Amino acid sequence: MYNNEQTKQLQQHTLSFLKSSGIEAHDIHSLRNVLRFHEYRYYVMNDPLIADAEYDQLYKALEKLEQENPGLITSDSPTQRVSKGLIRDFPKVQHLVPMLSLDNSYNAADLIDFDRKARELSGLKEIAYCVEPKFDGAGISLIYENDLLVRGATRGDGVTGDDITTNIRQIRSVPLSAAFSSFGIQQIEIRGEVLMNKDHFKAYNDRLEEEGANRLANPRNAAAGSLRIKDPREVGRRNLEAFLYHISDVTFLPHYNASETLKTHSDALQMLWELGFRSPEKEKSVLNDIASVIEYCETFEKQRDELPYEIDGMVIKVNELQIQEQLGMTTHHPRWAIAYKFKARQGTSRLRAVEFQVGRTGAVTPVAKIEPVQIGGVTVGSISLHNEEYIREKNLMLGDTVLIERSGDVIPQVVKSFPELRDGKETAIHYPTRCPACGYPLEKPEGEAVWRCNNSHNCPAQIIERIIHFNSKDAMDIRGLGDAIVKKFYELHYLHDIPGIYRLPFDKIEKLEGFGKKSVHNLQTAVEASKKQPLYRLIYGLGIRYIGETTAKALARKVDHLLDYTQFSMEALQQIEDVGPKVAASVYAFFHNEQNIGLLEELEKIGLQLSNGKKVSASEGALEGQTFLFTGTLHQLKRSEAESMVEENGGTVLSGVSSKLNYLVVGEDAGSKLEKAKKITTIKIISEGEFLSLVGK
Ligand code: IVH
Repeated sequence: MYNNEQTKQLQQHTLSFLKSSGIEAHDIHSLRNVLRFHEYRYYVMNDPLIADAEYDQLYKALEKLEQENPGLITSDSPTQRVSKGLIRDFPKVQHLVPMLSLDNSYNAADLIDFDRKARELSGLKEIAYCVEPKFDGAGISLIYENDLLVRGATRGDGVTGDDITTNIRQIRSVPLSAAFSSFGIQQIEIRGEVLMNKDHFKAYNDRLEEEGANRLANPRNAAAGSLRIKDPREVGRRNLEAFLYHISDVTFLPHYNASETLKTHSDALQMLWELGFRSPEKEKSVLNDIASVIEYCETFEKQRDELPYEIDGMVIKVNELQIQEQLGMTTHHPRWAIAYKFKARQGTSRLRAVEFQVGRTGAVTPVAKIEPVQIGGVTVGSISLHNEEYIREKNLMLGDTVLIERSGDVIPQVVKSFPELRDGKETAIHYPTRCPACGYPLEKPEGEAVWRCNNSHNCPAQIIERIIHFNSKDAMDIRGLGDAIVKKFYELHYLHDIPGIYRLPFDKIEKLEGFGKKSVHNLQTAVEASKKQPLYRLIYGLGIRYIGETTAKALARKVDHLLDYTQFSMEALQQIEDVGPKVAASVYAFFHNEQNIGLLEELEKIGLQLSNGKKVSASEGALEGQTFLFTGTLHQLKRSEAESMVEENGGTVLSGVSSKLNYLVVGEDAGSKLEKAKKITTIKIISEGEFLSLVGK
């Protein structure tokens, strides 16, 4: 899309816009191009050249210019993705060409058969195929007219779909305008797939769970559901992506020689790529015989887990468009393409029992015990059923046959039950009315989906889970004090609360089976070292409801001492980044509970850091106001540790090289970031050792 020369020039414009104190109306066209370029780098190439905050700065400048000069707004301006109102309904629209399905194949023999038929029908000895991933998302169809995106639709029944243009405009890898006219194209209908990548899917599911809603079974459902939301801003927040892989209809400009432009499917992918779309240009391969096709499919299947998004197979397409035409289609699928389906990430099993587990916040979660089943190389025996409503929705009974899926988010889910297979021996699932761990009556607050045990300070299950969470990797990171050991120590009465971690009877532990001098010494060292963990880890480790790592960091930054929060009002709490009314209420309640305050005071006496480190650290705020970026492999520190050190010392970690960057810390095998940084003379390029001495280590 952008060659080296254009990239350099656009980056130069970027820097001068970033430095400029007033961007003027005559710059608007250039500013838009700069923003489009960075959207492309970020959303299509996955390789941003500026920090998010810098993008925001330029975006705001464009918004301001457009507010001052409404006459200059264009429908394809980066600001015009966002639509403020709600969508009433999605009108039905007819696709220019029906959206067909694909025929499926499952093994090499099926592919050999497909190739044989294609060769017989076309009378050719050899056929070249273009092979690309089969994206596991929601199908879409887009129309561009005179270079502008004019319509986006769902697949629907294949003939008519829903007009979801407003929502499609929220997907930042879909260009609002693309220079099809430079290929002689006046109107084009293109097809593709909308996806939610695995990381975003997992985060979205975690958010759903935190809000008391049910996790979704797979990213496909998340993508398809997101396209049908009536609030386009929410669609924008879902971080959807789109791959475009098929041209279904083209109208050329008058006098244009159509046959010159697109001869093969791979030409089409390349054209889309050059016009700024995400097409499988880099993932595809053009192969001259079916044996190579099979090999490519099998290799790709092995790498499936390393991809950031879900694919459920490969699609094999006859590469020459003329041969495609000759082969034609059935009413259901083209004869020139076939899907090669990977091994399913689904399996059926039987629901044997439901156990009820109590989490650290007292939430009671039903867990299905199923007959163990292999799914994608992993044996699944237990699956969370989330809550009562979920069990009802999925119509589950003990003894039922159930369909299980493990996709995107490694956590397996029950997709559905098969009531038609019941033999009358199935029984209803009874929800407990008392806590299975301590017998306390369960309560379900208005508007929440989860039953809770509110006996938080005396319920053994909650105590154990709280200790486990406190020790966990992202919290105090006490290695050697994992789930099973915490349970064991609890049963032996060695450990019954968080401060107890710091009073473990190591002499007795040393005599336990499976422990020796060395492991006890390691444990003792890990426990001792945890006292020096930064404040945000402690906050996160306390397991306050709704407080994840990010909010814990924001909370740690705001005060000198953790107990300062006892003085914060609800309003003051809501001034903190990431803190809304729900989170504020939870923090407020935590710091107005005597037992919690007692716990914090005790931890401080034991020697844990309750002040945020700035006051006690020798290198107080040593990096205040400085920006950092790490590249290459570090040897003495983990990347996350290094980044935390920056933040603890008052610095900021940026996500890309730009003029805002003060220090690039270079590890082994540093790549393009180092090259970019060398071009910006104000950036100091330092080694890991130099970084450590900056923070006084
Ligand atoms: S080509 C006329 N290519 O799979 C041929 N489809 O099971 C049009 N899909 O409806 C389809 N990745 O939604 C094609 N690389 C890819 C694909 C792909 C995913 C979807 C598409 C299609 C479904 C058929």
